[in-house]
Amino acid sequence: MAEKTYRVIQWATGVVGSAALKYFIENPTIELVGVYVTNPEKVGKDAGELVGLPATTGVKATSDIDAILALDADCVLFSPSMMTPPLEQVCALLASGKNVVSPAGPHLPNKWLPEETRRIEEACAAGGVSFHGCGIHPGFSGDILPLTLARLMSRVDCVEVSEIIDKVRNPMIYTEIMGFGADPEELLANPRRSPETYKHFYSSMDMIARGLGKEIDNVTVKFEVSRATKDIKHQFGEVKAGTVGGQHYEWTAWCEGAPLIVYHFYWQLGTDLDHLWEEGEAKYRVRIKGEPPLECHLMSMEDEDGRHPFLGLPWTGLVGCTAVGAVCDAAPGIVDHVDLGVVEPKGLVRR
Ligand SMILES: NC(=O)c1ccc[n+]([C@@H]2O[C@H](COP(=O)([O-])OP(=O)(O)OC[C@H]3O[C@@H](n4cnc5c(N)ncnc54)[C@H](OP(=O)(O)O)[C@@H]3O)[C@@H](O)[C@H]2O)c1
Repeated sequence: MAEKTYRVIQWATGVVGSAALKYFIENPTIELVGVYVTNPEKVGKDAGELVGLPATTGVKATSDIDAILALDADCVLFSPSMMTPPLEQVCALLASGKNVVSPAGPHLPNKWLPEETRRIEEACAAGGVSFHGCGIHPGFSGDILPLTLARLMSRVDCVEVSEIIDKVRNPMIYTEIMGFGADPEELLANPRRSPETYKHFYSSMDMIARGLGKEIDNVTVKFEVSRATKDIKHQFGEVKAGTVGGQHYEWTAWCEGAPLIVYHFYWQLGTDLDHLWEEGEAKYRVRIKGEPPLECHLMSMEDEDGRHPFLGLPWTGLVGCTAVGAVCDAAPGIVDHVDLGVVEPKGLVRR
């Protein structure tokens, strides 16, 4: 059976973008037509070479935005660095007639982002295309996953979604920027993740609440830290005893006087901490209290070393890649998981 194909551009080739680019090169339902890069060393290279595949795609990476805008493409997977406000570029791509799937957000619909919503809606209308914010969280673990799991229940009291990462076993370049190794009192007073960050995850909370036929009244935020009980080495440095070795962000969406959705982020450097909230492999864990109560763990399969590496970044690219066809086929405008319906990830089975 001939599969429908889509012409796709990969925008930026960081960790998320590289996973997406590899997917696009390998998936027979996708024709890769462009790759945008910022790094001058990548300009002119074949797309395959950028992700460890043969340099035979015939698509050369470019840093020329006008050339990208001029391409005839169905969709762009937009994954620039998190330091860059992406809205101008997202709108230009949409207005040029390309659907956009964006791990960089914004995640919409979202009452906290009216300006972004207005501009993206206008650009979608101008280009006759759709926009979809994707990712593992926000984008999957805290919205479509628990909403789907709730179909196995007869009563839901509270949905609890936890991101659990040991940053010694899963090193990340942002470890220091996120406040590990900081003075605990200083970090508590100035959390590196702003107390407003939950607003960027609100579309996910709202999707669950709406899906359950309820509305969120308000969201409360809690932040606590744990201290390293000895010096802890990690791939990008060392955290001294007595400084921050663990962080727990908690965001609670309230409905009719009770917590309806709680997001926990447990980030810890190993286990030599004065308070250990969670132990074990990196994962997303969904617990739904109600009838019958349910628990689901989303983690990578065990690797050769017997570990379950954290795959949040590649998953963020892949959940966008697998939505490309559905986003291209959707009616123009902002589309979330509910609009897309059951997404069929074509081209994954390759014998
Ligand atoms: N929703 C979620 O669950 C979720 C999870 C993780 C990440 N994300 C988002 O996904 C996006 C990509 O994350 P990542 O981990 O892949 O980031 P990354 O590894 O830092 O890579 C981002 C890429 O952006 C390009 N870039 C660098 N500086 C830039 C600049 N000044 N302006 C525009 N582009 C620039 C570079 O591409 P080239 O190397 O090709 O030049 C870089 O490799 C981020 O926006 C992040 O916030 C979302």
